[in-house]
Amino acid sequence: MPVTMKKFLELLNKDLSWEYTAMVQYTQHSGVLTGAAYMSIKKEIILHAQEELGHATILAGQITFLGGFPTAEMLYPCHTAKDNIKMLEQDLDGELDAIRRYTERIAQAEELNLYHLAQNLRNILAMEQEHAMDLQEALGR
Ligand SMILES: [Fe+2]
Ligand SMILES: [Fe+2]
Repeated sequence: MPVTMKKFLELLNKDLSWEYTAMVQYTQHSGVLTGAAYMSIKKEIILHAQEELGHATILAGQITFLGGFPTAEMLYPCHTAKDNIKMLEQDLDGELDAIRRYTERIAQAEELNLYHLAQNLRNILAMEQEHAMDLQEALGR
């Protein structure tokens, strides 16, 4: 049974809230990461934070377009640590979750014949995959 529009808007609002969390978490981690060996991933993480804000902006616009009201709440807490590896693992977990959610959301958007939205979500999904790859590379995986 396809997802209802009401349920779909709820899920998109959760995705939006996760983008807020990702943006804040990356911003905080960029300040905490230290050491010459981590300078390259630190630059990437600063960029990731800006890209998560971009995703939030796209989702907020799309939610409104579909008749919903974009959330302004950060429902999910950031994960923090003082250890570089631990932080990168926390960020990678977030990206893998985003990939899982957006893969599901694209399928749901297509079920609802929202092809414009599916296209936007595909662009976001591709960026989340790049983020995950940056982190995996920095973690030597
Ligand atoms: Fe994102
Ligand atoms: Fe991301």
